[in-house]
Amino acid sequence: MANFNTVAGCVLASALFAMVVGKVSNAVVHPHKLDKPAIAVVDEAPTQVAAAAPAELPPIGPLLAGANVEAGKALFMKQCFTCHTPDKGGANKVGPNLWDIVGRKKASHEGFSYSSAMQAKGGDWTYEDINHLIAKPTAFVKGTKMAFAGLPKEQQRADVIAYLRTMADSPKPLP
Ligand code: HEC
Repeated sequence: MANFNTVAGCVLASALFAMVVGKVSNAVVHPHKLDKPAIAVVDEAPTQVAAAAPAELPPIGPLLAGANVEAGKALFMKQCFTCHTPDKGGANKVGPNLWDIVGRKKASHEGFSYSSAMQAKGGDWTYEDINHLIAKPTAFVKGTKMAFAGLPKEQQRADVIAYLRTMADSPKPLP
């Protein structure tokens, strides 16, 4: 019996000891947040990282020639039309009218009140800039008021951009 108690006591003591050590090491080794996602993760989970960090987008130019304008139009009507009209002389809604957007000066559509972030961006809307914007608006223009999560699929972005390109009197040349 004494033996059993000793053994039980030992087991209990070790368990307590382990708990205490666990607590202490938690307190000593502060879990520490990374400012950026660890790059090492990229190889293991490419899809997740691509969705989370579209800063490194491959160029959309090469996909545009083969893009599906009709699919792009359907997608635009589903995803963008709530906020944007695409036609000539169309109204500004929550977002500005997008007629002739390729090559248009950023934040320049008459009668639309852009965020100061968008006004500060500068330059014209190239295919690649539109690609970045619609992949993740808040990543491309920090502080934009375009409240849209983004189109994570490259092919969808190519289709929408190819469609927007056709919404102009003289569509800009493909890259
Ligand atoms: C929830 C509303 C909303 C949705 C959905 C939305 N946008 Fe926007 N968009 C905006 C707003 C608002 C702005 C102006 C942003 C600013 O001033 O910061 C904008 C700006 C833009 C601009 C820049 C226009 C300019 O004149 O500089 C483009 C291009 C654009 N959106 C394309 C799209 C496309 C393509 C889609 C669909 C894939 C889309 N947006 C979906 C609200 C939206």
